Amino acid sequence: MENFLSVKDVEDIDKLIKLGLKIKNKPLRYKNKGRHKTLVLLFFNPSLRTRLSTQKAGLNLGMSVISMNAAQGWKLEFEEGAIMNADKAEHIKEAAAVISQYADIIGVRTFPSLNDKAKDYEDRVIHNFVQYASVPVISLESAIRHPLQSLADMITIEEYKKTERPKVVLTWAPHPRALPQAVSNSFLEWAKTRPFDLVLTHPQGYELSEQFVEGVKIEYDQKKAFENADFIYAKNWSSYNQYGQILNPAKEWMIDDEKMKLTNEAKFMHCLPVRRNIVVADSVINSKNALCIQQANNRTFAAQAVLKQLLE
Ligand code: CP
Repeated sequence: MENFLSVKDVEDIDKLIKLGLKIKNKPLRYKNKGRHKTLVLLFFNPSLRTRLSTQKAGLNLGMSVISMNAAQGWKLEFEEGAIMNADKAEHIKEAAAVISQYADIIGVRTFPSLNDKAKDYEDRVIHNFVQYASVPVISLESAIRHPLQSLADMITIEEYKKTERPKVVLTWAPHPRALPQAVSNSFLEWAKTRPFDLVLTHPQGYELSEQFVEGVKIEYDQKKAFENADFIYAKNWSSYNQYGQILNPAKEWMIDDEKMKLTNEAKFMHCLPVRRNIVVADSVINSKNALCIQQANNRTFAAQAVLKQLLE
């Protein structure tokens, strides 16, 4: 693996999931793999889970880890040929090259603008880091994907599945703020490669980009989608077509006990952070079938598996 930006960077997905589970079984198994190597994590946007789990993953591999709130520094320029006479103090060309002098692997978190679809979907920040860094780059969530979250989710489903071909439902859920599509895009991209009966459900108007939904079954009736499901993965996203907008609050799409009763005693999943009693009822997230904390735990082993492969 040269960089980790999406599922397309992974040679053998099954092997990577198994490696995550093997590491979970003995987290310090490869504790010298990253000795004398440095992991630099740049956060242009906030994070709790990604920051701590990736830091822990690096430490478990014996790496030195430097984490930086990049948003609090100066703004980076990404335009080729820009005349830099405004508020951007440094070009990505120098910034990525300089950070590469201090890092053996660079992690980058960056959110979309949610105003300019074309620019967001170019995923320019992460791709510019890859272009101008001289070391591997790992996505800690980009404008359109969150591959470390998705790998942790695939590891979690592998751990808890009761059948060889579980029914996995990705459902839109309400939220008071306009959120990126990254987690959902990425979840579909990874889930499509797995032996799942995969169903996507959302209100009209919340269709995701064709590049992610191609080949995925879409069911607009949420209750119908939930029938006999083994896993319910809830996530809010803003509209892709009317880019970045909340079209319809659709509060009735909250995940509650009544809907979960339609499933095959499904496990409930969410990447967190989650708004209780907006996205999901307390009774569902408090139940023994909720896997959110297990997903967050698996973030460490997902990151560790990826870092190990990049170090090799
Ligand atoms: N799920 C996730 O990425 O959480 P953070 O935003 O806290 O990193």
